[in-house]
Formats: sequence, C-alpha cells, structure tokens
Amino acid sequence: MLTISPTGLWTIDPPHLFMKLRAVTGMNDILPEESRAYQRLEQRFRAVVETYGFRELRTPIVEELALFHKSTGETSEVVQKQMFLLAKEGESLALRPEGTPSAARVYIGNKVHAREPVTKWYYIGPMFRAERPQRGRYRQFHQAGCELYGDPGPFADAEVIDMVYRLATDLGLRDVGVRLNTLGGSEARFEYRRRLTEYFTPRSAQLSEHAQARLSDNPLRILDSKDPRDQQACEGAPVLLDCLTDADRAHWQGLLAALDRLKTPYEIDPRLVRGLDYYTRTCFEVVTQSGNIGAQTAILGGGRYDDMLASLGGPPTPAIGFALGIERILLALGEHAHTDPPLVFFAPLGNAATLACLELAASLRAQGVWVELDGRGNSLKSMLRRADGMSARFCIVMGEQEAEQGTAQLKDLTAHDQKVLPQAQLVQAILDALASPSTSTGASPAPTSGSPT
Ligand code: HAM
Repeated sequence: MLTISPTGLWTIDPPHLFMKLRAVTGMNDILPEESRAYQRLEQRFRAVVETYGFRELRTPIVEELALFHKSTGETSEVVQKQMFLLAKEGESLALRPEGTPSAARVYIGNKVHAREPVTKWYYIGPMFRAERPQRGRYRQFHQAGCELYGDPGPFADAEVIDMVYRLATDLGLRDVGVRLNTLGGSEARFEYRRRLTEYFTPRSAQLSEHAQARLSDNPLRILDSKDPRDQQACEGAPVLLDCLTDADRAHWQGLLAALDRLKTPYEIDPRLVRGLDYYTRTCFEVVTQSGNIGAQTAILGGGRYDDMLASLGGPPTPAIGFALGIERILLALGEHAHTDPPLVFFAPLGNAATLACLELAASLRAQGVWVELDGRGNSLKSMLRRADGMSARFCIVMGEQEAEQGTAQLKDLTAHDQKVLPQAQLVQAILDALASPSTSTGASPAPTSGSPT
C-alpha cells in the first residue's frame, strides 16, 4: 500500500514491494515480433490521413484530471469509473483515457484559431482506462485519431466519415460498416432528454439497475445499453430525429447527401449515442465482420463536438474527430507475430575474419541493408544454424584463410548456392542480388577445398 506522509514523502509497506515481474493487469507488453504489425498499421494511418491534410500532434500522456471532467464529461463512464489517477502533492493528475481533450487543450492554449481558420491534427499513442480487461478491451491500449477544428459544415463530417471508411478498407478489413446518427445540437438534446425522462420514468422498474442510475444523469445512454431489459424498454422510446431544430436537420440532410455523392456506405442507427459526453450532431462508429472481435464491437468511433472547446474556456470552435483502436484492428485483421529476417548474416571464424566482417557489415549497413554479425567466436555449425533460424537471405562465411587471402564465401540461403568472392566485390554483389530479389547471386557451387564449410 502506498501512503503519502504529511511531509509529502511516499512510503510503501514492505509486503507491497513484492514484485510479480509481469505487466500490470490489462496492460500488455508489445514484443518485437508483435510491434511490426503496429508499425505497419500506423504507417498506413499516417499515409491516408496526411493526404487529407492532417498533421501530427504529440502530447504528454499525463494531464490535469480536471481536463477530462470538463471535456470527456462527468456523466461518462470513462470519467466516473475508469480514470487512472496520479497522486502528486497539490496536483490532481490522470493518465489520459483518450486524446481529444489533450488536443483541445493544445488548440486553445496555443491560440491556434487566431492563425489558422481550419486546423487538422492527428495523434497516435497509448490511452488508459481502468476497464474490466477482456479480448479487445484493455487498460492500456493504443489509439490513432484525428481532430478537425474550425469547420462547422456537414461536408467536413462527410469528408471525415469517408476518410475513416477508406482507411478501414485500406487496412484490409472486410465488410466495413459505418453506423451513423445525429445527436442534434444542445437545444434538441435538451428537449430529447426531457422526452426520454418522461418516457422512461414510469417504466423505470423494467430497467436494469445501471439504466435506472442513468435515468437521472444521462438518459440517452440507456439507448445503447446491451441489457435485454433496457433494450425491451427502448422499443417505443421517442427518437431524437423528431427533436431536431431546422439547422440540425439541414446539417444532417447535408451530410447524408454528401455521403451518397461520395458513395460512402453507411447505416443510420438512431440508438447510437456514444459513451463520451461531448458529442453534438453527427456521431459514428465503424464495425467490421473481420476476425472474431464481435460484429457489434466498434473498431473506431467519433463525432462532432461543437460545444467542447468553448466549455473548456476557449473560443467557440466547431470540431469533429475520431479515434481507432489499434489493438482491436489488429485482432480483426488476425495479425500474427512476425519478425522480418535479416538480409545478410556474417559468420566469421577467428579475430582477423571478424574484423574484416565488421568492416564489410558497416559498408552494407551504410547502404541500408539489415545485417547480423555473429562475433561471439562460436562454431561455424552453430552460426549457420542461427542464420537459418533467422531466415537470413545470405550468409557470408569467412575463415582465417579467407581473411588472409582477402576473400569470403557468399552463400545464398534461398537459392542454396554459394561462391567464393574477393572481399572487395562482396558488397556490390549483394547489393546487385538484392536489387533483383527473384534472382540469386548467380553463384556457382563453391569449391570444396580451402573453404571453411
Ligand atoms: P472511443 O469510442 O471511446 O472514442 O474510443 C475510440 C476507439 O478506441 C474505440 O472504437 C475502440 O476501438 C478503442 N478503444 C476504446 N477503449 C478501448 C479499450 N479499453 N481497449 C481497447 N480499445 C479501446 C474516443 O476515444 C474519442 N476520443 C474519439 C473521438 C475523437 N471523438 C472525437 N474525436
């Protein structure tokens, strides 16, 4: 147990110093063979969103707790139950559960509106929510998200939604579905909340305990409850579309027309309300049939939040954005652990050969070739086994004799051939062979005598 003394010193009871040497529950190590898939997804994400003009923003993972209370929202489960708090004397800090509030803080704090009429940012990084861990739901997970400030119109929504659809398809997900809804502006939501409260109050006994609690603070959340009792009670509930103002309706119609023009498929889901408090008008989620994360589980979610920046003390600024869950997408894609093989493996025997190989390896690396050099002084057999195990494309074997003669043996491990070359020609021979990956080095079987094999 951690305690803070009146003088501000931290102490930990000795029993709590016991370590399990495991990652904290719900937080995962990403091993090198897994991180390739993250990198690939992140690269695709950057490549797609940058063509729409989004630029990268990097913010700290720790923020003042108040930021999330004022933006993510007091009635959201994320703020009510899932924050990881950090104790620091005189400060209430939290690990960020999402990236939207931090981006808004930066936008306001740097007065970005004063120099850019429209701002487009993206971010990639870890987020933290103290949820019950399960497949596709973790306590540390990674999001890649975009935020667009300064454009109130429905075409901005259409472009963002079209972009997420293309992105999801581009990543290789199958049967990508965009679920879309409008939550109206504050006036419509106020009226809708009133109608929902009026509708659910006489039916509260039929609702789950969770929904009963929501009735007073955020009755909209009852609509997306998965509990069959709530779903049944929602059957005849009022719909928000009936509460929209003329301006809300024009925005919604404009969005649908633009999506139709872009041929972006979507499905209107009047029950889609999203779990964060700040959304206004457009909200959306993306689901996929790929993998087995469940067709109902969103891999991406977002929407418009036109009131949030003003409520944080910034200038009134229309905004829209989304974030995708990297782990959920990798699960859906069924990405397997994977390590790229080195292209060239050096197997030197003795000090003189190792020194010559170090030099040759440096020349190849300077050309961008991934090289592995085994300088541990092991037997040739064990080095060849290692080169094989790593699926290297070429292996260079050099014994004392070759080192003295200025030659080396180049083995093409894919084509299963080998030849002896002067060391001065080795780098170019490998570069030539790599430039035409389908062909081998053209090596003829190596002479059997004088070679270290
Ligand atoms: P969100 O729907 O809370 O929205 O999260 C976006 C995505 O992050 C989800 O669709 C899911 O893929 C992933 N995700 C959320 N929680 C977890 C978790 N515990 N484990 C694994 N993946 C998770 C937001 O965070 C908003 N900031 C999106 C946004 C940006 N709205 C406007 N701008």
